[in-house]
Formats: sequence, structure tokens, C-alpha cells
Amino acid sequence: MFYLKYRPKTIKEIDNLSAKVMIGKILESSTLPHAFLFVGQKGTGKTSTARIVAKAVNCLNNKFYRSGKTAGVKSFEPCNKCVNCKSIGLSSFTDVIEMDAASNRGIEEIKSLIRETSFLPMSGGYRVFIIDEAHMITNEGFNALLKTLEEPPKSAIFILATTNLEKLPKTIVSRCLKINFGKANTTDIYSMLKRIDKSENINFNDDLLRLIASHSENSFRDAAKILEEVTLQKIQTIENVEKFLGIRGRNDLLEIIEKKELKKTLFWINEFSQNGGDFKNLIEDILNQLHTQLLIKNDVIKNEDNQTTLNLNEISLLMKLLIEAYQNLRNTPIDSLPVEITLIEFYNKVGQDK
Ligand SMILES: Nc1ncnc2c1ncn2[C@@H]1O[C@H](COP(=O)(O)OP(=O)(O)OP(=O)(O)O)[C@@H](O)[C@H]1O
Ligand SMILES: [Mg+2]
Ligand SMILES: [Zn+2]
Repeated sequence: MFYLKYRPKTIKEIDNLSAKVMIGKILESSTLPHAFLFVGQKGTGKTSTARIVAKAVNCLNNKFYRSGKTAGVKSFEPCNKCVNCKSIGLSSFTDVIEMDAASNRGIEEIKSLIRETSFLPMSGGYRVFIIDEAHMITNEGFNALLKTLEEPPKSAIFILATTNLEKLPKTIVSRCLKINFGKANTTDIYSMLKRIDKSENINFNDDLLRLIASHSENSFRDAAKILEEVTLQKIQTIENVEKFLGIRGRNDLLEIIEKKELKKTLFWINEFSQNGGDFKNLIEDILNQLHTQLLIKNDVIKNEDNQTTLNLNEISLLMKLLIEAYQNLRNTPIDSLPVEITLIEFYNKVGQDK
């Protein structure tokens, strides 16, 4: 998987500039905080960075290691070569404990984690506790954690990662050093895609990589996954990538919808699905189009040549049904169903089912 293969392994490789600078400064200084809080959207590098920090403070070849200190070594980057770095990379290092709070959220799990903090590190470095999806911890769990976060053993470092800062108690947040990963911007995503493209010899042109970058929901992971799928399916032209992303054809689909031709509609959707099109993107694009049309029809914006033949009632009904379809995408066994049902219902309601 590209997104695992190209996961950043050093601070330098983190594409997220502000996070990179801040972590660098912290590791450079002489004192380490005992608790970090990494906040940011999905796929912005929180887990990757937590592992990099865990490696850095336990690496045998940088300034954190005893003999490194006495020899005046300055680098805080993990070497990714020593036994400690390697075993952290394989998740088999006893002093780095990762807990996914999405599945271990209760008081018992937190208690056993706290028990772990009382052990001294085997390697002589630090015991690092990474708590992913930290917002999922129960209230009882947070309360138990609070005391430990307040007075942790010297050799323990906590790294909490979350996509939902607002769900964390303020008491927890105030005991951690917060680092904001925000959301990935298109330029940073593009440079990651370029790096993968080069080292995999994919040779996509820049427009194509930019197109993928701008359709990856501000997530490095999503972008790497799209690039991998597009490559696996041997899709090479802009047109076909657009099709894959569900951009194409929003015009053709809307044209078919305007004519209210059920058979053509189902045929189009089937083809779209066979081509690996993404229904989430498709619905978003049609909704955007309809929203623009709504504004045009009400003279909020002007556009003479781009007018739909759907009337206002039809536009708002279709938007309402598409929003339902959008929500239903999460629960459907067949990706195409929500859109198909929406359009069948739409044609029935506007009474021109052909
Ligand atoms: N800053 C970055 N630079 C380059 N690639 C990145 C970066 N951040 C993330 N990635 C890519 O995205 C993938 C996911 O990153 P990671 O698991 O660290 O994200 P996360 O913030 O923990 O996401 P989630 O909230 O979904 O757990 C990585 O494997 C890597 O391929
Ligand atoms: Mg993560
Ligand atoms: Zn190392």
C-alpha cells in the first residue's frame, strides 16, 4: 500500500510544515514535555508523527541516547536503522505502547495502561504511550487518566491523537502540549504524490497529480490511496481519472436527469459504477451544480448560458433526495443504490417517468 510505504519516517519527511517546525523545536530543546496532544483531520500525519517521536527519544544513534549525549551528538532525528528504531517500526518495542481508544475506551483499559507507566523503560530511553482516537475514551477513563497526566513518571511520555478536539475534556487538554496538524493542503498533498510518482516510476503529468490532490478530502492518506487505485487500474488520462473520481459526467448525468429518462439514467449509473466511479464525489458534484442553479434561478448570481431546464421545485426536491442518498451511502451494501433510489423517486414525484 502506497500510504503505508510512504508514511513519513523522520521529522524532515513530514509534509505538514507547521507541525514539522514545532516538533523539531521541541525535540531540539533540552526538556521534553510529558504529554503531547496531536490535533488534526484524518490522514494528516498524527499517528505517523507519534511513532517518529517515539523512535526519536529511543533511538540509539541520536542525541537522546546516553553515549550520544556524551559524544555531543546534535541530531534529534531517529536513524531508522538501529534495533530500537526498527522494532518500533514493527510495533514490537516493549517501551512503546499504542492504544486505539476507538476500541479500548473503558476504565479497565485505561487502568491497565496507567499500570504500565510505573515500569521503567527496558531500553533506558522513554516509555511512550500513544493513545489514538483519544476523544473516544469514556468519562471515567478520562478521570483515571487525569491523575497520571498530572504527575507522570519521569520516563513516561504520553501522545494523545484526536480528530475531535471538542470532545476532549478541558482538564485533559490543559495538561498536554497541543500541536495542530490542521488539514492537509493541496500543495503539500501534491508534493507527496510527486514523491510517490517518482519513486514508483508512474510518470503521471502534473495536472493529473494536482487533480488527485484536490479530490482527496485534505487527507494525505486518501490521496495516496487514490493514486494507488488509479495506477492499479491503469487509468492514465485526465478524462479517465475524472471519471474515476466521479467528476466526469456530472454534466451528462444532469442532462439525463433533466430529460427524466429512467432507463438512460440507470444505464449511466451502471457504467459509472463499473468504471470504479466514487458515488460520494458524484453526489457532492451534482449537489454543487444544483446549488449553483438555485442561485442562478433566483438571480443571486448571473449566468445566461448555463441554465438548467429543471424548475425551482424540482431542484429543491432533487437536492433534498440527494442529501438523503449522501447519508445513506454509509449503510448501503451496494454503492450505487442510494443514487438509483433517489432518481427513481425523483422521477415518480415529478411524474415524468419514461
Ligand atoms: N505529513 C505527511 N506527509 C506525507 N505523508 C503523510 C503525511 N501525513 C500522513 N501521510 C500519509 O497519510 C497516511 C496516514 O497518516 P497518519 O496515519 O499518520 O494520519 P493520522 O493523522 O493519524 O490519520 P487518522 O486521524 O485517520 O488516524 C500515512 O501513512 C502517509 O502515507
Ligand atoms: Mg491515526
Ligand atoms: Zn535509531
